[in-house]
Parts: sequence; C-alpha cells; structure tokens
Amino acid sequence: MVSDEMRAEVERLKREQDAVILAHYYVTPDAQDLADYIGDSFFLSKKAATLDCKTLVFAGVHFMAESAKLLSPNKRVLMPEPTADCPMAHMVQKATIDAARAKYGDDLAVACYVNSRSQMKAWSDVCVTSSNAVKIVRALPQHNVLFIPDMNLGHYVALQVPEKNVILNDGFCPTHEAIELAEVQAARREHPGARVLAHPECGDWVLKEADFVGSTSQIIAEAVASDATDFIIATVHGVIRELEAQTAGSGKRFWFPATTPICPNMARVTADKILACLRDGTGEVSLPGDDVAAGSAHALDLMLDYAK
Ligand code: 13P
Ligand code: SF4
Repeated sequence: MVSDEMRAEVERLKREQDAVILAHYYVTPDAQDLADYIGDSFFLSKKAATLDCKTLVFAGVHFMAESAKLLSPNKRVLMPEPTADCPMAHMVQKATIDAARAKYGDDLAVACYVNSRSQMKAWSDVCVTSSNAVKIVRALPQHNVLFIPDMNLGHYVALQVPEKNVILNDGFCPTHEAIELAEVQAARREHPGARVLAHPECGDWVLKEADFVGSTSQIIAEAVASDATDFIIATVHGVIRELEAQTAGSGKRFWFPATTPICPNMARVTADKILACLRDGTGEVSLPGDDVAAGSAHALDLMLDYAK
C-alpha cells in the first residue's frame, strides 16, 4: 500500500508538472495504486494519444512508453524504471521481413505487435495489440500477413482468421510461454468448475485448454461478466489487483498456475520509482530518428484507425 505522504507528494508533483500517470496491469500493485489510468496496451495507447497534459508518467516497459511518445510527441514521457524492457520487443530480424516482401510483393501486410522496438514498427504496415489483432488482420486488404514478433499471438490470430495466410515469426513472451499445460490442468482439478481465462501470448497448449482467450482488459471484463465463481488466470499475476477490485463482494476467486507468472521487467516498476522520476525528471523517453519516428507513428496511428 502506498502511504498517505507518498500519495500527497505525487499529487503535488503531478499538479506542478501537469502530469498524468498511466500504468499497465502487470506492474507492481503499489505502482498501480498511484496511477490515474490502469489498462492494457491498447487502452493505454489510446489514452496517451488523447490525454490533454504536458507530462505522461508511463509505468510499464519501454515499448509502451515509446509508443506513448510516438503517439503524442509534444508531451514529455517519463519512465519510472527506464531499463524495464520487453525481451520479445527485440525478437525479429529485418531479413525475415525482406524475405516475405520479396516473396509476396504488394499482397503482403506486415502486422507488428506493439511489443516491439520502434524500428520494427517502422518496417511494418500496421501495429496491433492483443485486444485488436484479430479484428485488424481480418480487415487488412492483403491476403498474406507476416505477423511479428509474437508467434503465439500470431498463431492464435491465424486460427481466428483462416481466410488469410498468416506467416509466423519466431518471437515469444518468455513469461507467457513458460506457463505449462500441466499446471493449468492441475489448477482445474483443484478447482472444479473454474473457467480458464488465458492471454494469447500463451502457447497453444494453454490456449487449447482455455475457455476464454483475450488481452488483459478482456480477461478482467470476462471475469466480471461471467456467472462462474472460480477462474484460473493464465497471464501475469499483476492483473489480480484489478480482478479483485472489480469483483469485490461477489465471492469470485482467482487462481494462477503453481509457478506464478511474473514479468521480471514489469515487476521492477514500483511506486517509489514513480515518485522519484516525477521529482527528479529522470527517465525521459526520446523519439527515435526522423525516419523511424515517422514510420512507426504511422503504423500506430493506423492501428487506432482500424480498431475504431
Ligand atoms: P496486453 O496489454 O495487450 O494485454 O498485452 C500484455 C502484455 O504482455 C504487455 O506486455
Ligand atoms: Fe514482454 Fe511478456 Fe513482459 Fe509483456 S509480459 S512485457 S510481452 S516479457
């Protein structure tokens, strides 16, 4: 829990600097406690693009803060933990894209999960998040779609959009990929009647077992709407704060695989670091070079248009 003193100091600094704090569900509960808005990657991108303020504090990993800067280049964007990075954001080679473009020509779209470096976004035609990837891939005019960097989300999209030729890259989220089917099945045996809600970054061995697949916000919305009382959650444990907040008093219970999924980078984003970056002005995110900024902002803007 965040102390009253810390909260008051953060509020004072926010007023002084016209700042808004955004947090992803995967950061520490105390960091989420200080946030003005908590959400999944898509919700936070939309907020970054539309909020009227001078400073954004982005409690998340680097690609999220960088996307906020690209969508709103006139704002100052601060990262409480500037070294928090997503390993999957580096998992594609330019040669993979060049080979697909050479093979399919104009009938290829490169769809880039936002969990990617800006350079990768600039190589691509459109960005997607886990909450809109199916909708956007389905709507693309091209028949062939190279999906980068996440093979698990790409595989899930391919199954939902069988009319397209979805080509996969070999990137993955180490945290979701590590969730084992045996642990999900063991949790089902321990909690008969529980519904399994899974993030599409999980391997298909988990997704096949799932009753519902969706982004973090979609998982929370499903748990709130469902008549079930027990849920096995196959995503990062940080969502528990919002799951419990939104279902308080309902008697709903949430269970995780025995090896609790934690994203080590998100876990380094704490309330203390939010206060420190606001106080000291540290962790400012810069725009990439002009070509990369223009190309990657275009791919992000197009995502916001397609997702409407
Ligand atoms: P969403 O925010 O789209 O649910 O994605 C989860 C994730 O892994 C973010 O890094
Ligand atoms: Fe990257 Fe996975 Fe962490 Fe999300 S949960 S930031 S995809 S490593």
